[in-house]
Amino acid sequence: MASNDKEIVIDLVPFLRTYKNGTVERLISSPYLPPSPENNPTDGVCSKDITISPHVSARIYLPSQALTTTNKLPVLVYYHGGGFCLESAFCALFHSYVNSIVSKSQSIIAISVEYILAPENPLPAAYEDSWVALNWVTSHFDQETYPKNKDQWLLDFANFHKLYIGGDSAGGNIAHNMAIRAGIEKLKGGVKIHGAFLSHPHFWGSKAIRSEPSENRDASWLSRVWKVVYPDSPGGDDNPMMNPFVDGAPRIAGLGVRKLLVLVSSDNDEMFDRGVDYVEQVKNSGWGGDVELVEYKGDGHCFNLFNPDCDDSEDFISRLVYFIR
Ligand SMILES: *[C@@H]1O[C@H](CO)[C@@H](O)[C@H](O)[C@H]1NC(C)=O
Repeated sequence: MASNDKEIVIDLVPFLRTYKNGTVERLISSPYLPPSPENNPTDGVCSKDITISPHVSARIYLPSQALTTTNKLPVLVYYHGGGFCLESAFCALFHSYVNSIVSKSQSIIAISVEYILAPENPLPAAYEDSWVALNWVTSHFDQETYPKNKDQWLLDFANFHKLYIGGDSAGGNIAHNMAIRAGIEKLKGGVKIHGAFLSHPHFWGSKAIRSEPSENRDASWLSRVWKVVYPDSPGGDDNPMMNPFVDGAPRIAGLGVRKLLVLVSSDNDEMFDRGVDYVEQVKNSGWGGDVELVEYKGDGHCFNLFNPDCDDSEDFISRLVYFIR
């Protein structure tokens, strides 16, 4: 091994390090969990993995009881979190979470998208994958647009008049950007997104808002993450993908959804102020839909993932299931 192999090129501890030899060392990851294609009597959910395109895949979840009915179910396209550079739809953290949403509802079909990660594949690659996945799902609405690799669960059980998208943290950011794009471009099959949920959405910007610290913005954690995951970002931290309210960003009034649910935690989350601000700006934008802010105290960033059994997590899942019904 050459001595300079140990040289660190990117130091984004506690997320990751990259070395001069090209190795990316992810310091946070939950273990892979397989899907459960058979009816699982303890949670009443079946899941399976599917390939969407050469580098986009997903895990689909169906309430087992749906298999014995002809009812069509609301569809949730879910984007996992992890700062655009960590985790997976197939890992324990997100498998358990999406599984629990479907289990609790017994009436949602969910597609958890496996998009490509930075830094090996910098943004906007993950946004593109996320859009491809969403269009693949909606292409099941109309025989004319059926994909070659169509999925029987979507054909049999998806109600595309009730299409929802959502995500946690970076996934909440992705869901916002999909909603913006769906307001500009048509989704395959002509499907419209009914609602979106953004949990602890990952937004940032070069200038402090509300109670954010104004010192050393460039050295702030979220600014450092953004430079690693989107090194060529036009506008830097004020790229509209990260800061949706800068001049020149797509019109918020054009959000391609009818309703929004935004979850924030007021303590231990540097994304809190942006989440609250997001709701205020959306309300003032002239967008014609309904937006609801749900604020929890003392729980921290993405407590609903890391502490799924606490009262607030159960409360949030109930609200989410109600929102999607
Ligand atoms: C690259 O360097 C790191 C740190 O020294 C090492 O752990 C890793 O195994 C190396 N990878 C390859 C492919 O040589």
